[in-house]
Amino acid sequence: MMQKRKVVWDLCSGLGGWTESFAQSDWVVIRIEINPALEYVPFTRIWDIHDWMDWIDDLPHPDLIVASPPCEEFSIADPNKDRNDRMENPEKYPELEIALENVRTCLDIIDYIKPEWWVLENVRGAVRYFKKYIPKLKPHKQAIGPKQHQQFFLWGNFPHIMMKPNFTHAKCDNRTAQERALIPFEISFELKRAIENHVRITRWA
Ligand SMILES: C[S@@+](CC[C@H](N)C(=O)[O-])C[C@H]1O[C@@H](n2cnc3c(N)ncnc32)[C@H](O)[C@@H]1O
Repeated sequence: MMQKRKVVWDLCSGLGGWTESFAQSDWVVIRIEINPALEYVPFTRIWDIHDWMDWIDDLPHPDLIVASPPCEEFSIADPNKDRNDRMENPEKYPELEIALENVRTCLDIIDYIKPEWWVLENVRGAVRYFKKYIPKLKPHKQAIGPKQHQQFFLWGNFPHIMMKPNFTHAKCDNRTAQERALIPFEISFELKRAIENHVRITRWA
């Protein structure tokens, strides 16, 4: 009997790093991205996540949703940002409000669809914003990268992603913002492996 192909949606998909290993296998990949310059990234639909009610019921139901809403506003990399003021008064910073709204919209989509698995990725600097302004997003479940320099913070419902102990990811500044934001293939690969290998206890019932 033919097995039904599994489906993954990639919200705010950029160059598609989150779902690259899925695209190279037999999963159906649907990438949703607002930037028209990325229309040639395979499987990308140039849509706005905020318009989700217009398109959501036309897509095949996903087994997994991954999301990487933009992280620049949460990043602690820019020393010129007044971090405390931004934290206490986000309404003074329209770009920060948009960034929080992007995260809430990804969560609205996940709530509506209720996929078996979902992962939302962001940077270390997002942790305290999410804790204060998006409390329904439970604390992050996994951080990936060398202990002193964890770069990928993951929230959601997903099996633990087993990275190789020597996994590192260098960010070098001569790349474009899109390239720097790309989720490395290793993480996409290990997420796919974790999901495919996961055996639910109910299987033995
Ligand atoms: C952090 S990057 C994603 C990186 C991606 N995970 C990868 O591996 O390449 C965030 C992306 O969200 C997109 N984005 C921002 N607002 C959006 C919106 N309202 N709807 C859809 N995509 C959006 C940006 O254009 C950007 O490409």
